[in-house]
Amino acid sequence: ENTIYQKGLRYERPPFTFKALDWERLAEERMSAESKGYVVGSAGTGETARKNREAFGRWSIVPRRLVKTDGFPDLSVEVLGKRQPFPIACAPVGVQRIFNPDGEMATAAAAARERVPYIMSTASSTSIEDVARANGDGERWYQLYWPPNERNDVTKSILSRAEKAGFSALFVTLDTYILGWRPSDMDNGYNPFLRSDQIGVAVGLTDPVFRSHFKSKHGCEIEDDMGAAVAEWTRTVFPAMSHSWEDIKFLQENWKGPIVLKGIQSVEDAKKAVEVGVQGIVVSNHGGRQTDGGNSSLGVLPRIVDAVGDKLEVFFDSGIRCGADIAKALALGAKMCILGRPYIYGLVLGGEEGTSHVLKSMLGDLELTLHLAGIASSSQKHLNRSVLVKEDD
Ligand code: FNR
Repeated sequence: ENTIYQKGLRYERPPFTFKALDWERLAEERMSAESKGYVVGSAGTGETARKNREAFGRWSIVPRRLVKTDGFPDLSVEVLGKRQPFPIACAPVGVQRIFNPDGEMATAAAAARERVPYIMSTASSTSIEDVARANGDGERWYQLYWPPNERNDVTKSILSRAEKAGFSALFVTLDTYILGWRPSDMDNGYNPFLRSDQIGVAVGLTDPVFRSHFKSKHGCEIEDDMGAAVAEWTRTVFPAMSHSWEDIKFLQENWKGPIVLKGIQSVEDAKKAVEVGVQGIVVSNHGGRQTDGGNSSLGVLPRIVDAVGDKLEVFFDSGIRCGADIAKALALGAKMCILGRPYIYGLVLGGEEGTSHVLKSMLGDLELTLHLAGIASSSQKHLNRSVLVKEDD
């Protein structure tokens, strides 16, 4: 921040705005109707997405004075067996090449540069191996859209590729075995996963097991009938049927590292996650893109933390737009916050640089918010429910 003001003395202006709430509008001005509908859009009437945002306003940070500290707050956090410098990660977001030609290559590079873990989506428009290359020595985790049990061979193949490419944890998304009712995409007649070019199917297109499965079923190579390949891959990763809790065992047998279940919204499911023995959960409603008329993700966080917070690691996403939002979710017991749309707006505004800008801004904002409130670190020892008041009370 100081550097920015110093440069300001020389009339040098930063290339991107620091007004976090303007990123969406500025990105919207630059996107096609289809890309805009896809990223900004939510399920149904948008009620769940709206509630995600409103929930943050119900909690307020109460700053304390004359708290002498050694320096700026320590933002580091121990998650999934490793210390990370910051308590945020980039959410899995599919088909990023519709936002910028560099897509996942740009965001994975920016995440590594800012030392923020990158969660790669199964719906990426870039292959597992290329994302790993762009991410270099960064921390990377793989998000699974889980093929049905009949296609366990494809799942195994994807998992072994991800492991080989240095993805150290597996995030399994449980709320999207089929896409939600998304009017903004339907109005455009647009489903990025059904585009008949290779966008959105990069992981499948480059998968030897999926390729041989496709060949035996369709009697040709993927490249000979891209439309059929896209449809086949879409059916494979959005099978419109759910697995059961017993099936988690298969993933545990085929993945060596930690497993985190993404999309948990109830205490009951959080307890099931403990029972099946996974290492973590993401309290998330997919940014309000799946179930309409749902609860806010932040609203259910404290209950879930109280029920299972000492038995597995609780991550949080859905609705985070600034440093104070991160502070509140951490105070309510999340170990780490995951950002979705904001960094994609950064990608739209300026590729790798834009993504970096968003991540850095979020962290700078968080650091000052904690420092000014007299909170010495982002760990539960200092940042806990005692720093918050509920405005309704
Ligand atoms: C997503 N999300 C998502 N989640 C996932 O597990 N796999 C995926 O491929 C995608 N794809 C995706 C695309 C777009 C455009 C968005 C906006 C979101 C959900 C994402 O990981 C995260 O849960 C939400 O984005 C969090 O909410 P906010 O931060 O966007 O409010």
